[in-house]
Amino acid sequence: MKEQLELIRQNALAALDAAGTPAALEELRVKLLGKKGELTAVLKMMGKLSPEERPVMGQMANAVRAEIEAKLEERKAAINAAVLEAKLAEEAIDVTIPGQTVELGHQHPMNMVLQEIKEIFVGLGYQVVDGPEVELASYNFTRLNIEEGHPSRDRSDTFYFDDNDEVLLRTQTSPMQIRFMENHKSPLCMLAPGRVFRKDEADATHSPMFHQIEGLVVDEHITMGNLKDALITIMRKIYGADAQMRFRPHHFPFTEPSCEMDMQCHKCHGTGEIDGQVCSTCHGEGWIELLGAGMVHPDVLANCGIDPEKYSGFAFGMGLERMAMGRLRITDLRLIFDNDVRFLNQF
Ligand code: PHE
Repeated sequence: MKEQLELIRQNALAALDAAGTPAALEELRVKLLGKKGELTAVLKMMGKLSPEERPVMGQMANAVRAEIEAKLEERKAAINAAVLEAKLAEEAIDVTIPGQTVELGHQHPMNMVLQEIKEIFVGLGYQVVDGPEVELASYNFTRLNIEEGHPSRDRSDTFYFDDNDEVLLRTQTSPMQIRFMENHKSPLCMLAPGRVFRKDEADATHSPMFHQIEGLVVDEHITMGNLKDALITIMRKIYGADAQMRFRPHHFPFTEPSCEMDMQCHKCHGTGEIDGQVCSTCHGEGWIELLGAGMVHPDVLANCGIDPEKYSGFAFGMGLERMAMGRLRITDLRLIFDNDVRFLNQF
């Protein structure tokens, strides 16, 4: 029995030294000291010993038990310390590692160009105003001399909200001329950028939603010369001193006389073709229409309570996407609306 106890002692101490985790230690505790453990089994056999041997063996068994218990505590402390050490090492924060940078976006290219255009006009004394996208037909058409039955009022061109064709998504920013003249006295100098909507198929230069920038100047003695001067000034500031542009006579019901202004196509440089193919940006024209303009029709002034005998004015409505295409050398208008970051990141 003495040998048995010595064997248990040696094996137990060796096993405890080898145990590396709290779970392994617990398993050993049960195996060595538990009710069904090895030591208990030996103690149960004490009854068979002689009265002389019993206290000697009892003492020895208690000593072994105490030794195992002490070893168990020692190993427990060592393992817990090691576990803590490992955890601290694993969770340590290295404050010297550079932080993760958040990628910052930037203004949409079209907004950049809008900002440039606005700043130039503000420098020329224009007041920038905003107006409703859901508009009344009377502002969008009637008061601009566009009578009932005019083709541009057609349901195939305009998004209406009602059966009476009275409420619509504005097809142009020109209703802002009326809204501004209603509320301001001459002299006035206004710029009204905003979204407009038409039932157009999307292609390289068209989209059912696009942006226009309306301009209106009314004062005594305003002439077509002032209009041309304003537009040429703007174009040269945006496209450079050698910008190529042209004015063409045109017709708008709310201006008289009227014109359109084109810029030379930035893709084919006015030739209308690229490598023997028709240029897809200007459809072979060599020019890209940027805006409509003209002298405010006397009836429109009178509609807004401004005396056409005393005052005259000019107005223009430029296409912002077209301006941005020329400014940033974008060859397809749809890219502006796709919002593919590979495209946007180029600006
Ligand atoms: N509103 C016209 C259009 O959308 C452009 C325009 C504006 C023409 C102002 C003359 C004066 O085509």
